[in-house]
Amino acid sequence: MQATKNIKLPTHVAIIMDGNGRWARQRHLPRVEGHIRGMESVREIVTSSCELRIPYLTLYAFSKENWIRPKEEVKKLLELLAHYLVQEIPLMMEKGIRFNIIGAIQDFPKRIRTLLYNTMAQTAKNKKLVLTIALSYGGRQEILNAVKQIAHDIRKGSLLRITEKTFKKYLYTGDMPDPDLLIRTSGEMRISNFLLWQIAYTELYITDVLWPDFRKDAYLKALKVFSTRERRFGMVKEG
Ligand code: IPE
Ligand code: IPE
Ligand code: MG
Repeated sequence: MQATKNIKLPTHVAIIMDGNGRWARQRHLPRVEGHIRGMESVREIVTSSCELRIPYLTLYAFSKENWIRPKEEVKKLLELLAHYLVQEIPLMMEKGIRFNIIGAIQDFPKRIRTLLYNTMAQTAKNKKLVLTIALSYGGRQEILNAVKQIAHDIRKGSLLRITEKTFKKYLYTGDMPDPDLLIRTSGEMRISNFLLWQIAYTELYITDVLWPDFRKDAYLKALKVFSTRERRFGMVKEG
């Protein structure tokens, strides 16, 4: 991709895909239409990430708190997810995408759980892009689960010391690098319980573009901005 030639790309991009409802409202359409259009953005951003050879893409699709939305909307979101999974497997195989889930998979109905596990199993050997979808995900819940698991292993005697490194292993993202870039669409200046531990030194990029309008050009713009950021990780600026 010419536009990103010679620029420093992130290894791991995480995205809070927000604004589907507002996109629909602006057009006097039901919210679900925004979610449908948002799926097209997912496809485009996944494909662009493959083309750019970005190895990790993590998308926040449904939060632990989103369950309190109207039943009809939740149902429609689950349907869209199931549809996406069935439809995208050939593309995932063709492009070398490994599908991964973070979040409380047990919260989903059995039919969806089976689809999720099957897609993960089918794509497990793919190596080009790890596509992680955060579903029924909450950062606080993730940390709490890790603490419970650690307490259990300490009691059992299989864990002796708790360090940052061992703690990280107990998170859903245990075997992934932390995100280098976090994008949030639709302008909200908040994290909404996403990857709380993992984003300690992540570069933040918030755009007013609504998720259904966030396509390749908007993505490239975010990546360009990222390439100009100076990351310090607490060090002194050189020169
Ligand atoms: C993001 O869009 C999708 C989900 C959270 C599932 P929203 O549905 O939150 O859209 P807005 O924020 O109401 O515009
Ligand atoms: C964050 O969006 C969750 C997802 C994008 C899945 P929300 O729309 O749920 O966040 P808030 O409620 O505006 O903080
Ligand atoms: Mg929202």
